Amino acid sequence: MSDVVSLLNDIRDVGRDPRGPGYMRPGFSSTELNLREWFVGEAQARGLDVEIDHNGITWAWVTAPGENAVVTGSHLDSVPGGGEFDGPLGVASALAAVDQLKADGRLEQLNRPLALAVFPEEEGSRFGVACLGSRLITGVIEPDRALGLKDAEGRTFAEVASEVGLNPDLVGKDKERLSRIGSFLELHVEQGVGLIDIGQPVAIGSSIVGHGRWRFTFAGQGNHAGTTPMTKRADPVVAGSQVIGAIPAVVAGVDGKAVATVGRTILHPGGTNVIASSMDFWLDIRHPDDGVVGAVLRAITQRAQEIGHDLGVEVTVSQESYSATTHFNSAFNQRLQGVLPEAPILDSGAGHDAGILAGFVPSAMLFVRNPTGVSHAPEEACEEDDQRAGVKALADALAMEAGAVSYT
Ligand code: GLV
Ligand code: MN
Ligand code: MN
Repeated sequence: MSDVVSLLNDIRDVGRDPRGPGYMRPGFSSTELNLREWFVGEAQARGLDVEIDHNGITWAWVTAPGENAVVTGSHLDSVPGGGEFDGPLGVASALAAVDQLKADGRLEQLNRPLALAVFPEEEGSRFGVACLGSRLITGVIEPDRALGLKDAEGRTFAEVASEVGLNPDLVGKDKERLSRIGSFLELHVEQGVGLIDIGQPVAIGSSIVGHGRWRFTFAGQGNHAGTTPMTKRADPVVAGSQVIGAIPAVVAGVDGKAVATVGRTILHPGGTNVIASSMDFWLDIRHPDDGVVGAVLRAITQRAQEIGHDLGVEVTVSQESYSATTHFNSAFNQRLQGVLPEAPILDSGAGHDAGILAGFVPSAMLFVRNPTGVSHAPEEACEEDDQRAGVKALADALAMEAGAVSYT
């Protein structure tokens, strides 16, 4: 039996970002695979049956595999420069919750199967589409589209999947495994300040705001930085930068609560003395009203077309992923409130595999307080006492959902 704190300590040095503080754990990289091996080792040490499915999701059966299972888990990949807890807290807490249930004698009382699951490429930092594993198993993304996705080095998901032992012909909707999940519960570090303000360690999730990612490409004329007069340029970097600079005002003009972010750009070919021939940026837009997400996208696209037209730069926009606003299962949440009466209800501005699964199986989330309120950055944090409070809440919730007699 291990404490959640010591489980997280075991992987604290895996995938540290060589460029500075934080982590670099891209989906399907050797780092993420090392973390998955760590999970498999911990699961096997507890006597759990482990299987990796056709989509790279790792399952660990606490009981014999079966229908109508209660499943809990999260992910082990990170955004570039990510924090320690986004994903791993849910995985380590799942293992620790099993230990807790065993120590309390509650495992024998379960009358539904129980399993842990680790989803690959949740952040979409490598192939561009967030929650790739849960989108694949549910069929939310077509296998052909997924297999054709490319990483920053131009390698397709099909190539990488083969390399890590998946069969590209079998990647995609997996009705059999999906139908085994009777309830899915994901514990996650909070990625904002909600619990700090309320003064509670654990919350129950109500919904995930609608969000999407779009790739904007600005195509201009590559040229010589010294010989091309300023008036004779079609510079995509100038056009793209003007659009990025206009985003806060454009978004505020549509809806004060909408958020839109450009966190990644690529200049081609990328030389100090070269006017670029193209610039790509990725735009992330979020709002609880899906209509507002669309309105923000249209307003930014229109501004980009105007700026491109003025500067002789061609602008194209393509959608990389989209998730409508998702409300978690209300009956499941009421049961959770019965077990965790002190826990407030919070919505999430961040995406999660539970949000994708919610369209197919009763799903819910628990959030654990983050004292900095910062996430997707090295300052993300979670106090040890709160980690333990999260495990207790998860164990009680799993015991309740899987039908153990006692959950206190
Ligand atoms: C994932 O954490 C996301 O919300 O982008
Ligand atoms: Mn996450
Ligand atoms: Mn994240």
